[in-house]
Amino acid sequence: MAVLPILRWPDPRLATPCAPAKADDATRALAADMLDTMYAASGRGLAAPQVGVLTRLFVMDATWKQGPRSPRVFLNPEILSHSVATATGPEGCLSIPGVLADVTRPETIRLRWADLSGAVHEETLDGFAAICAQHEIDHLDGIVTFDRLSPDLRAALQAAYADAAE
Ligand code: NI
Repeated sequence: MAVLPILRWPDPRLATPCAPAKADDATRALAADMLDTMYAASGRGLAAPQVGVLTRLFVMDATWKQGPRSPRVFLNPEILSHSVATATGPEGCLSIPGVLADVTRPETIRLRWADLSGAVHEETLDGFAAICAQHEIDHLDGIVTFDRLSPDLRAALQAAYADAAE
């Protein structure tokens, strides 16, 4: 169990599509460290490339700020279908600290993934969990919130981020 360093955008590893994850001991150890790291950073989701591992794995706890912890681990997540209805809301990212970007996404998704034993699950996610899962799956595809914005908004937020980093 360890808290890992979190990569900051524009680290090129955050723009690299990830390879499939295996449900093995190395992945189980990584997932435990990623959960430690996520809670330590006060985040609600963290994807493996954010700690420099280019594997299709993310961790999430959408509700721990409102109640007891309920850590979840998702290997090789796949969005099977999504609602036509969308929601737009501010998204933060532990790799882009200080920036909240308004991103539009489907409100509801049907998700398939494997757990740390390799068992496959399906579930319909809505609300914050649906948004968070889509944000983390974007990371596995090398996509960050900046990539989901209009060119004007992206330029403005990137400039603010660069100023804050100086
Ligand atoms: Ni993020």
